[in-house]
Amino acid sequence: MEKLLIKSGNKLQGKIRISGAKNAAVAIIPAAILSGDICFIENLPKINDVRQLEQILLQLGAEVEHNHFSKMKINASTINNYEALGDSARSMRASYYFLGAMLGRFGKAAVSLPGGCNIGVRPIDQHIKGFEALGAKVTIEHGVVRAEAKELIGASIYLDVISVGATINIMLAAVKAKGVTTIENAAKEPHVVDVANFLNAMGADIKGAGTDVIKINGVEELHGCDHMVIPDQIEAGTYMIAAAATQGNVTIENVIPYHLESISAKLMEMGVVIKEYDDSVQVIGKERLKSVDLKTLPYPGFPTDLQQPMSVLLTIAEGTSVVTESIWENRFRHVGELKRMGANIKVEGRVAVIEGVEKLSGAEVQATDLRAGAAMVIAGLIGEGETLISNLIHIDRGYEGLEEKMLSLGGNIKRIQA
Ligand code: EPZ
Repeated sequence: MEKLLIKSGNKLQGKIRISGAKNAAVAIIPAAILSGDICFIENLPKINDVRQLEQILLQLGAEVEHNHFSKMKINASTINNYEALGDSARSMRASYYFLGAMLGRFGKAAVSLPGGCNIGVRPIDQHIKGFEALGAKVTIEHGVVRAEAKELIGASIYLDVISVGATINIMLAAVKAKGVTTIENAAKEPHVVDVANFLNAMGADIKGAGTDVIKINGVEELHGCDHMVIPDQIEAGTYMIAAAATQGNVTIENVIPYHLESISAKLMEMGVVIKEYDDSVQVIGKERLKSVDLKTLPYPGFPTDLQQPMSVLLTIAEGTSVVTESIWENRFRHVGELKRMGANIKVEGRVAVIEGVEKLSGAEVQATDLRAGAAMVIAGLIGEGETLISNLIHIDRGYEGLEEKMLSLGGNIKRIQA
């Protein structure tokens, strides 16, 4: 079993380049099916979730070529199977995008119920509500979701909860539907906009992505295109927090600073110095940071995917911080691991009360999910002595070269066989 061994004491210094956004890439790859032509997708992150999506495309009969995964050529004209079943689909949440994409192109789809991080119930009722509104019949039996429609017809859909997945999946199913589809109370995350831009580059007619209301004018045909995935907001935020935690000085390149505003604002409130440039941010940590209260919200609020890394920083801030997780009901599994390292945290339902301590101490801990894994790496960088992190499967699903990048900034981290 592989583990990460981290020795604390080094302040992160230097420059780091952010990869393509995982949560955009994992939607854009399935979306390429809709064209029935050749699409080139650039700036893909080299992560296991992307490798699993390639496996699903191959199972469906698509032809895929890639340059070590950073640029992928997808020929979806050869697809001859509408069922994404099996381990690859079950291993990740984003496999549900094959439902919308195949329904949109072929009028039928079957996908194993998606897996992914264990951070809450993760229902897909809003996806199903959208597909049904467009005229599809949806069933779930024996762990497989099936959707089928003779014809998809545009509809008005109001999402009961703001859902990234449902917003994107309904866009995928609706781009070739007859007439106009409106998604109200839509998610506004940068990756929702990136997927809409990709679909528009294929000839779709989508307006309003990035606002509460998205209008999709169905088109008959889509063609191939070349698309560059946006930089990963969450990866960038992870390095911003790591730089602040180690009292380092790091310039994070290839980012869209506007996407990072909620994170920059919180870090500045704590006393961190942030300098914004055109496509980079510089983060300069200070000795003892101030505690802050934090509530996770859909974009443009503070992202749930950075709540766990951020709570590490709060464990060593001066005073008491209250963290409210309003998106996922089970996203405090990292707290038990942080307590092993000396953190003083009490969790009551969706609220964690963090009393800042002088320092954390190294310990053997687990990456309980993807972002918890990143949180543990940051904790290891500041926890006195050595930290050994197991369960790296989660980290490898979603962070490109995390240890190489941390090493290049001076972090003392290595992957060992244990
Ligand atoms: C996406 O998950 C991301 N995953 C998650 O990132 C992220 O935490 C989440 O959006 C919120 O930003 C991918 O993009 C692959 P949602 P998704 O649908 O789409 C409820 C990471 O670490 N809901 O926006 O599954 C749901 O229970 C991962 O990279 C319904 O009730 O999230 C949650 O409370 C983890 N019914 C809320 O909405 C539905 O049909 C938001 O979920 C769908 C969702």
